[in-house]
Amino acid sequence: MNTQAFDEALNRHYAPGDVWARIVERLRAAGHDPAQLTRDVAAQFDEFHGGGRESTRALARFAGLTPGLRVLDIGCGIGGPARTLAAEFGADVTGIDLTREFVHAATQLSARLGMSAETRFIHGSALALPLAAGSVDVVWSQNMLMNIPDKAQFASEVARVLRPGGLFAFEAVVLGVGEPHYPAFWAATPALSFLVTADALRGTLTAAGLEENRWLDNTAQVVAVAHKRLAAAGKEGPKLDIGTLVPEQVGDKMRNGLRNNEEGRTLAVQGIFVRRA
Ligand SMILES: C[S@@+](CC[C@H](N)C(=O)[O-])C[C@H]1O[C@@H](n2cnc3c(N)ncnc32)[C@H](O)[C@@H]1O
Repeated sequence: MNTQAFDEALNRHYAPGDVWARIVERLRAAGHDPAQLTRDVAAQFDEFHGGGRESTRALARFAGLTPGLRVLDIGCGIGGPARTLAAEFGADVTGIDLTREFVHAATQLSARLGMSAETRFIHGSALALPLAAGSVDVVWSQNMLMNIPDKAQFASEVARVLRPGGLFAFEAVVLGVGEPHYPAFWAATPALSFLVTADALRGTLTAAGLEENRWLDNTAQVVAVAHKRLAAAGKEGPKLDIGTLVPEQVGDKMRNGLRNNEEGRTLAVQGIFVRRA
């Protein structure tokens, strides 16, 4: 697949339709005024990864984030993690994402939450970051690496934009034993899925000049959250859950995510790497 075809396929996967219009519609159906949004309401759907807002907080604590850091969130989705980092950890966050509809929705949500000064969102690729060398204190990424075919190029871009001593903090789904079940949240079929093992990922990051600092397998926590989400999804009535962002096959994607982790086909990991001086 060439770059343009890949970008289009990724946009179709993550945004079949008008994402912002669907968010507004779901908010209204659940009895919320989109003009009077709070972060707690948005958190029900704006953190698009296995552990939800709690795992963003856990990763930020794992990384030891302190106020005032310049953070680049690669594959920022609709900006929930960026807003958590800004509001709760005092970060100044730029989010970048290849899915245009997500960048638009992220910008709309931050504006409505009064967070446009400390969070901003741009459309672009993780493989060609439009940022100067050494301009970022922390590169952040949650559940995006599974869509990256060329992980060496990704790692080289992360190392380039980080200042020496800066941190790469991420969580990702990695390959365990056996083929994952699809559709998954990150890819409806294997065509958009580029899973690697934990060891392969560590090796690629290290080769790019990023030194491993901390590593955690948090599969058990992600499994616990998935059980709760599945139980809540089965209840009657309007919902502001992950289905707000994922209109197609959401039940199958939820169940497959859980099966993949429970059967050891995938693992959920968090890592902190330091840019060598
Ligand atoms: C599962 S979502 C996670 C979104 C967000 N990190 C979060 O946790 O809420 C994966 C995101 O990665 C983005 N993505 C995938 N490949 C990308 C690339 N090459 N460059 C930038 N963004 C990418 C997708 O558009 C999508 O928004």
